[in-house]
Amino acid sequence: MTERGKNSFSNFTLAIGIIVFALFISIKSIGQTPDSKSGNNGKKISPELFGLFFEDINYSADGGLYAELIQNRSFEYSPTDRNDWNSFSYWEYTTPGYSYGSISVETSSPVHPNNPHYVVLDIEHVGNEKEHVGLSGVGIKNKGFDGILVKKGDAYNMSMFVRQLSTAPVSLSVILQAPNGDILAEEKISTSSTDWKKYTAKLTALESSDSASLLILATNTGKLAFDVISLFPENTFKNRPNGLRPDLAQALADMEPRFIRFPGGCLVHGSGLGNMYRWKNTIGPIEQRVEQPNLWGYHQTAGLGYFEYFQFCEDVGAIPLPVLPAAVSCQNSGGTWRIGGTGQRALPMEEMGDYIQEVLDLIEWANGPVTSTWGAKRAAAGHPESFNLKYVGIGNEDKITPEFEVRFKMIFDAVKKKHPEITLIGTSGPFPDGEDFEKGWKYADLHTIPVIDEHYYKEPEWMLKNLNRYDTYDRSKSKVYLGEYASWGNKLKNAIAEAAYMIGLERNGDVVSMASYAPLFAKKNHTQWKTDMIFFDNASLVLTPNYHVQKLFSVHMGNVYFDHVVSLSASDSTLAASCVQDLVTGDVILKLVNVGNVPAVMNVNLANFKRINSQAEQIVLSGPADAENTFEQPDLLVPVHSTFKASKKFDYTTQPMSLTVIRIKTK
Ligand code: AHR
Repeated sequence: MTERGKNSFSNFTLAIGIIVFALFISIKSIGQTPDSKSGNNGKKISPELFGLFFEDINYSADGGLYAELIQNRSFEYSPTDRNDWNSFSYWEYTTPGYSYGSISVETSSPVHPNNPHYVVLDIEHVGNEKEHVGLSGVGIKNKGFDGILVKKGDAYNMSMFVRQLSTAPVSLSVILQAPNGDILAEEKISTSSTDWKKYTAKLTALESSDSASLLILATNTGKLAFDVISLFPENTFKNRPNGLRPDLAQALADMEPRFIRFPGGCLVHGSGLGNMYRWKNTIGPIEQRVEQPNLWGYHQTAGLGYFEYFQFCEDVGAIPLPVLPAAVSCQNSGGTWRIGGTGQRALPMEEMGDYIQEVLDLIEWANGPVTSTWGAKRAAAGHPESFNLKYVGIGNEDKITPEFEVRFKMIFDAVKKKHPEITLIGTSGPFPDGEDFEKGWKYADLHTIPVIDEHYYKEPEWMLKNLNRYDTYDRSKSKVYLGEYASWGNKLKNAIAEAAYMIGLERNGDVVSMASYAPLFAKKNHTQWKTDMIFFDNASLVLTPNYHVQKLFSVHMGNVYFDHVVSLSASDSTLAASCVQDLVTGDVILKLVNVGNVPAVMNVNLANFKRINSQAEQIVLSGPADAENTFEQPDLLVPVHSTFKASKKFDYTTQPMSLTVIRIKTK
């Protein structure tokens, strides 16, 4: 070997030495965590594993989370929503004190073309109040969604558009009225414009009522047009104007959801092409939004629109996950599953250019600078900062047809090209297996779609048989967003079966990147889908045991998952357990599920964690398998918090039909 050769050789050995040393260091650091002595630092869990799915189903939006108290505020209800509905549904024409006049619904000169119907009142004679006991005048009255709930001392913000069609001003009384006729609040307004003008009044209730009405009474003769008559409690979630019902919104915030998917569900792809949810129709001033039928059998005002959804996500610290139609309608359009309806319809190819632009515009609207066309609209609505949109869902459990495939690909390619920073989520049909599921996944593999949305509603027994579903998913393929799942029912046994299933989601939090229970809300007497997370009426809400399970998993989420900490009897399919660590607090979190009807002992071994604080927190949800929370007994099943004495090794006896969360400090 020459001198030169020797030098190169020793340089080479030095280089190899450095590489080996570096590798050693990195392997060592991979194999340790501050709290683990075992050389096992656990498996990373998706930071967005547990979130929420909101769909406007079961009166979740209008009459629900959206705090508007007036039903059919813009006179846009129609027989297309429901056979027996029309522009004046939920309103009443009233002429107290022997007053008289006439009423009509007109469309010739609306506040905005998107909102064509309005009411015209011709006030011909107004009785003299002094001669009559009680009120007199010509007016209209709205009882809201099953009555208007008002609380003594609370303020309510009324607004309405009025156009004076007669020459002289008309005096109006704006009244909150109890069912017995008592006046709970009253303000006076005098019209002052022959153009549409927005009038506002603050009404403070003198007494409480659970079924009040809003009465607008003209008290002198003249002719007026009315539209968008709105009443909001002053107290909305985070005091947002055009905001959300605080108790319902808070119940969601309490879950600490990492993301919120909206606005559906089947609502997204709609019943027929004309019913697809178009995000641009749902932003801007409420009087300019396009209302439309809700395929669940009622009406969407779009008052809870894209701005409000994004704002709510921000208010609760969740990532927004909007889902846009994949340019096809729901395959069940026209009742296909029953009577062979119209099935899936696809947007004509010549409309695809505009449609793709609509998708791209959403990204600009959410994230673009205020100087951009759509970013400027976001700023004008009061949010100059970006909404930090990261994910966009395309399609909702669509039938995987050639029409779907070609359109999805067009959208996918366009978004990837212009916005590589956005992660698109594809879809794999409505079931956990079968034709659409297979085709959806094959399609995702073919086009390397980053995340695929799976949906399924099943019996609890199915959940228990499939606890290991994701253990064998190929980690090199698309990640899973389990966008909709539930076991059929809101009894404790359903919730605990879901808890066992969620252990599998945590264990597979490297491939299951997001999961959300469905549906979220259901209003009493307006429920189309029976298994739901939260039931409510105007005054109260019922948190199901399913809610408590979801909340316990979400609030006690970890960043890493550890195997072999909890030992179970392998043959017992009624038991499931996980151990995760929250790397921010350092807390180790155990979740122990017993779906059986006898107590079961689980062995916990935390020897690999350096320090364990013996003062641990213990939360247990348990009870009779068939018990459920109701409006009469909303707190029959609630998690019970207590302290627990933890040690490095202990046996824990789980109660029958229970989820136990044990949170142990390590610092
Ligand atoms: O969650 C209720 C419905 O179930 C959703 O709208 C749809 O996506 C699924 O079929």
